[in-house]
This record gives sequence, C-alpha cells and structure tokens, in this order.
Amino acid sequence: MSALPRPAPRPGVLDIEAYVPGKSTAPGTARVFKLSSNETPLGPSPKAIAACRSVADRLEDYPDGSAADLREAIGRAFGLDPARIVCGAGSDDLLNLLARAYLRDGDEAIHTTHAFLVYPIATLGTGAKPVVAAEKSYTADVDAILDAVTPRTKIVFLANPNNPTGTYIPFDEVKRLHSGLPPNVLLVLDAAYAEYVRRNDYESGIELVATSDNVVMCRTFSKIHGLAALRLGWLYGPAPIVDAVNRIRGPFNVNSPAIAAGIAAIEDAAHLELAREHNARWLAWLTDEINKLGLEVTPSVANFVLIHFPTTKGRSAKDADAFLTARGLILRQVGAYKLPNALRMSVGTEEANRLVVAALAEFLGRTA
Ligand SMILES: Cc1ncc(COP(=O)(O)O)c(C=O)c1O
Repeated sequence: MSALPRPAPRPGVLDIEAYVPGKSTAPGTARVFKLSSNETPLGPSPKAIAACRSVADRLEDYPDGSAADLREAIGRAFGLDPARIVCGAGSDDLLNLLARAYLRDGDEAIHTTHAFLVYPIATLGTGAKPVVAAEKSYTADVDAILDAVTPRTKIVFLANPNNPTGTYIPFDEVKRLHSGLPPNVLLVLDAAYAEYVRRNDYESGIELVATSDNVVMCRTFSKIHGLAALRLGWLYGPAPIVDAVNRIRGPFNVNSPAIAAGIAAIEDAAHLELAREHNARWLAWLTDEINKLGLEVTPSVANFVLIHFPTTKGRSAKDADAFLTARGLILRQVGAYKLPNALRMSVGTEEANRLVVAALAEFLGRTA
C-alpha cells in the first residue's frame, strides 16, 4: 500500500450504516409472500402498467426533465400549483436533496427514535449530525422534538405516519410542532403512507405547506400506487425551497416510464379506493388476530403492523422470523430501527395474511 494520501469521503459518510432493504427471498420454499417492504398486495393500476409499456418503444429519448405533465396531474388530483411540486426518483431522492440543500458540516437534523432510516443516512451524508428525539409509546413526541432544537438545528424530519411503527400524530400536534420551531428550521413532513390513513384528525401536510415558508411535504408512488420499481416520489413546498431543490436535483431524475405510469396511477381513483378498502379491512383483521395470539401489535394507521415478541429463547422476533421465512413468509426484522424484539409485517393479500396468522399460532404453540 502506498503512503500517498487517498481520497477521503466527507466527515460523517463512514459513520453511515448502509440501508439494508427487506429480504425478498426465502431459499427452499415453493412460494414466497414478500411482506417486508410495505408494498401493495394489489399491485399498480392496470392503467399505470399500460402507460409504462406505452413508453417502451421510445427509450432512446430523454424524459421531460421537469416532469411537467406529471406535476400537472398531481396538481389536479390535490388542487395544488404544479410550480410548487418537484418530482424525484422515489421520495428517498427528495429527502436526500433536501438534506443536501439545507444541511452543512456541523448542522443538526432531528428525527425520532424509531424514524425512517433514510433521515440519519441523508443527514450524515452532508456532514451534519442526526439528533434523536425520544418517542412516547412508539409515537413522535412534539415536546421531545422541540426540546432537541438548538441553534444548529436546520431540519426536522417527521414521518407521519411513521415507518416502521405505523403510528401518527394528529394535525393539531403537527401545527404545535411547527409553531414551536424557529422559522429558519425546515420541517419535512414525510407522508409516504398518507393515503392509507383513515382518521379525521390527520392531515398529510398540504395545508401547513400552503400557509408556511418552512414546511415541505414528501409523498411517494411506491406504496399505495404500487410503483416502487419505477422510483417515483414528489414534494410540495414553498417556492424558494422548490427553487433550491430544482437547482441541485439531477436534470433527468425521473424517467419516462415512471412519469407515464405516475400520471395514470394518480388518475385511477377507483384503484386507489380498492387498495384503501383492502388495507382497512386487513389491517384491522391482522391487528385483532395477532393480538388474540397474545402478541402486542402497535396500533397502525398505515399498511403494515409492528408485532412485538417476547425475549424468551425460542419465542423471540429472530426465532419467529426464521420460522416464518422457512414457510415462505417474509417479514422485516427491525433491529436497525432500534426494535430488536419486533417484526414489521406489510398488509398482504388475504391468503398471505391468513398464512402469517396461522404460522404465528403454530410458532407460539410449539414447544420451544
Ligand atoms: C416513511 C417513508 N418515507 C419514504 C420512503 C421512501 O419511499 P420511496 O423512496 O420508495 O419513494 C419510505 C419507504 O419505505 C418510507 O417508509
């Protein structure tokens, strides 16, 4: 090895624990039910699949870098000004762009204990420091977040609902958080699971963005729209923030198949409603049935449940994961989210949901 200096990444980069996606294989099993990444069991709208295919014979052309038609379609669906929307290669792309645009070495960005892992990754990548605010009952705690604010705080990331807990805070609490923040702190409301929430006191962030200078809302096509493979997300924000993000994003960060499929997906209200109905029914069923087995389930408003296991040998989350995986049922270990005694399960098809409950009953009933 030469003694010459080597290229060195910026401070913070090597502190990042690389994101480990949910497993997708279960070797040796005939059928696999992937319930590890909060994907929709209904798949995308057939119209979105057709729209995606229709672009396949023009792959030599660059996409429209401003994704204008998609931003207009989103604007129509939500009653928003398309000029205040930015599309990205998944909301991951947008979260990273916001971090890059608003954080520098020595700054701080707050997230909650069991928050989505991309927040600390995006923060560390800029040389800034992630600051963790404690949760209460696996739920974001506004007072703890406000207590964590210092003069160095530049961003607060809030997933609402949160992944992997499935919990949310009501709009009044989001407003209280916002009004307690200094005006130079950017509040990022990540509403990846907003479409699934059925609570009168929930608001995804649109109203707060419309009336503030320091709030953005991120959304995704990966979850209820079933387009995770295409990588598509969007944000809605104040004009100066939209301007900043547009200056640093990749000029063609969203591809043509994603744009075409995204437009068709957002216009297919019937498919969306079907997905919502399916989720509401099976989320309630899974919560009840798993509770009846004696396992605690954190009440969720999203399309997944967090299941808590005892630490007893043979009954732990790790043991349950091995037992389920051997039967082709792939859930998500959430140790990286500081939840080593839990598994997260996406709401699946009726068949998958019933198989998991039956397998958990068998797991708990066996002699360890
Ligand atoms: C809270 C939250 N935000 C954002 C994302 C990222 O979604 P995508 O990059 O696929 O749009 C996810 C995906 O798991 C998530 O759970």
